[in-house]
Amino acid sequence: MASVYDREFEFTPKDFEFIRDLVGERTGIVLSDHKLDMVYGRLSRRLRKLNIGKFADYLHILKQDDESELVEFTNALTTNLTSFFREPHHFDFLKKEALPYFLKQRDKRRLRVWSAGCSTGEEPYTIAMTLHEAVPHITNWDVKILATDLDSNVVDKGKSGIYEESRLNGVTPERIKKWFRKGRGSQVDNVKVSPELQELIAFKQLNLMHDWPVRGPFDVIFCRNVVIYFSKDTQRILFNRFADVLADDGYLIVGHSESLHKVTERFQLIGKTIYRKR
Ligand SMILES: C[S@@+](CC[C@H](N)C(=O)[O-])C[C@H]1O[C@@H](n2cnc3c(N)ncnc32)[C@H](O)[C@@H]1O
Repeated sequence: MASVYDREFEFTPKDFEFIRDLVGERTGIVLSDHKLDMVYGRLSRRLRKLNIGKFADYLHILKQDDESELVEFTNALTTNLTSFFREPHHFDFLKKEALPYFLKQRDKRRLRVWSAGCSTGEEPYTIAMTLHEAVPHITNWDVKILATDLDSNVVDKGKSGIYEESRLNGVTPERIKKWFRKGRGSQVDNVKVSPELQELIAFKQLNLMHDWPVRGPFDVIFCRNVVIYFSKDTQRILFNRFADVLADDGYLIVGHSESLHKVTERFQLIGKTIYRKR
């Protein structure tokens, strides 16, 4: 590890401790010791931008409850890795099992899906493509996908629906043709998702540690690759809250390295990282 003096900005173990506590409090994310260099690197960009010479001065701003900088601070420390059709077996399950079941069960023709921790939007747009493909005459249904994330920058990106074309790696040519429009002029390397997908989704900034101004019950909740950074106690509270807003026959889908084993009894494992409310 570099000494505090080798770095561009003075960064002490005490500074790291303070940041660790503040992130834990604001997001539930637990930063282990080996994240020190990552924290230094990501926050150094804020110091450069604000023209500040050492971490102690930056932390002083945070201690004064400067909400706009606190938002920048949390945005800088979240990990937003995602892609279209990431962990594709979840969308196969949605298309082949969950949706055919709901189509028979829901006589009110209402479907609600929540993508909690949606990052830049690839996950909710993938859900929207899957719904369009699996729900015949979808316009006769009341369908909404709620897409939320703590990080306001990624929520804005998702809302825009504009992606670099190179992000379409996991998407088949048929789907690209159907659901994406190629940009022109300055947008030539970008694509935009079609309005039919956008109108199914409501993007909102939401911290899972705070109150949820959401209207359930949800039929499916995706919370994938979010809780890996949370303590088991925080996971327990969160998953129990998900159970409260999920329909009695609803599904919860988590990320490939996540599990509810020894966390809560309110769900039953029914497939690879797929749970049903008990
Ligand atoms: C690695 S991304 C996962 C994106 C997507 N679910 C997927 O699996 O591809 C994790 C996301 O969780 C969000 N996140 C972390 N803590 C959160 C919290 N307390 N409330 C809401 N979102 C949070 C991060 O901002 C980040 O965008």
